[in-house]
Amino acid sequence: MGKSILVTGGAGFIGQHLCRKLLISGHDVRILDSLQPQIHGSKPKLSDFTCEGRVEFIQGDVRDRAALERAVTEVDMVVHLAAETGTGQSMYQIAQYFSVNVQGTALLLDVLQNESCARDIQSIVMASSRAIYGEGAYRCAMHGLVYPEQRTVERLSSGRFEPVCPACGDPLELLPTPESAPFKPMSIYGLTKQVQEQAILMYARNRRINGFGLRYQNVYGPGQSLKNPYTGILAVFSNLARQNLPIEIYEDGQESRDFVYIDDVVEATLRCIDFSGNYIGALNVGSGKATTVMQVAEKIRAFFRSDSSIAVSGAYRAGDIRHNIADMSLTNEVLEFVPGEPFEKGLHHFLRWVCAQNHEDGANYIRSVEELQAKGLMGNQQVGA
Ligand SMILES: NC(=O)c1ccc[n+]([C@@H]2O[C@H](COP(=O)([O-])OP(=O)(O)OC[C@H]3O[C@@H](n4cnc5c(N)ncnc54)[C@H](O)[C@@H]3O)[C@@H](O)[C@H]2O)c1
Repeated sequence: MGKSILVTGGAGFIGQHLCRKLLISGHDVRILDSLQPQIHGSKPKLSDFTCEGRVEFIQGDVRDRAALERAVTEVDMVVHLAAETGTGQSMYQIAQYFSVNVQGTALLLDVLQNESCARDIQSIVMASSRAIYGEGAYRCAMHGLVYPEQRTVERLSSGRFEPVCPACGDPLELLPTPESAPFKPMSIYGLTKQVQEQAILMYARNRRINGFGLRYQNVYGPGQSLKNPYTGILAVFSNLARQNLPIEIYEDGQESRDFVYIDDVVEATLRCIDFSGNYIGALNVGSGKATTVMQVAEKIRAFFRSDSSIAVSGAYRAGDIRHNIADMSLTNEVLEFVPGEPFEKGLHHFLRWVCAQNHEDGANYIRSVEELQAKGLMGNQQVGA
């Protein structure tokens, strides 16, 4: 039977895809979203988010109690996606990130716990992030499984970008990171995601309802914001390549990410919503594969037959991690979910969609980099290092 589902942040990239699938599966969908101009521009069209009026749309902020009370009234489940999402931006908009991600979540739980308008919620699913792991899991030949500390400015500025063993300083072998890894966020964004996840899972345990902290890796696909310069390197590189502007690669270009296609993310999220057993905990949602930033830039440039130069600058940003790959074993076991879309194919779908979108000029991106520089949150590899 169809459920009544509130999706906070449902007008965003993941939310829009999810809401469409929820409707197809026969659920009633309500969105609470403030339509942040950084993501949606200054004149968003409501019809883009309401699926021809089949979605109930509440424009409001997750920090507004009255809006939340309206949003949770008589829903069976909550999918909490609304958040500030830029790793670099979080390092200087600290109060804003805590306010939206932590206080917004606290208020949501307060309303669910205390207000009679919130009928018994059966399940809560939240968008956590790989950012809560920081550098993630590695193997040291001497010390076995280790979780490296934040890379020091001394190492980064001398071009030694790979994390080292926290016990002996030796080089490490990268491993997929499992959910049992310790929390070691290296950005304010990651820290707020950790708190969000812990608060929501604590609530679920106390209420004895299902709770899923979905640790999304780098999600990409058609519909992701091309306007937001603070997040999504595929969108950033595409904007630059389409205009033949130079693509600057940080560090040495060998840093890598686990890129997971939007359809896989939606599928994993739907499996939580439709889950018939009992589960409270975190689950990785990734592809289980690493792709380097250099590979991404080269593939995007080739697709657009662009004249963009690709320059490895040696610059580095506070809050960035070196690599990540999700260990998908627990998610496979709990949700019987195996990610299906290989990066090559998913990237092709994304880039074909980009071709049909308006050009975004490079000004926002340049401004976002200048902001980081002005705040002292970018460094450069020393010449000759
Ligand atoms: N996209 C990724 O690669 C990725 C990776 C890990 C985790 N996540 C998490 O998944 C969730 C969704 O990400 P996304 O990529 O769809 O982001 P998005 O920026 O496209 O969507 C976020 C939505 O939240 C809304 N929002 C922001 N602040 C709000 C507020 N105060 N009140 C109400 N609505 C607000 C925005 O208007 C937007 O529509 C986020 O929680 C994000 O942290 C995303």
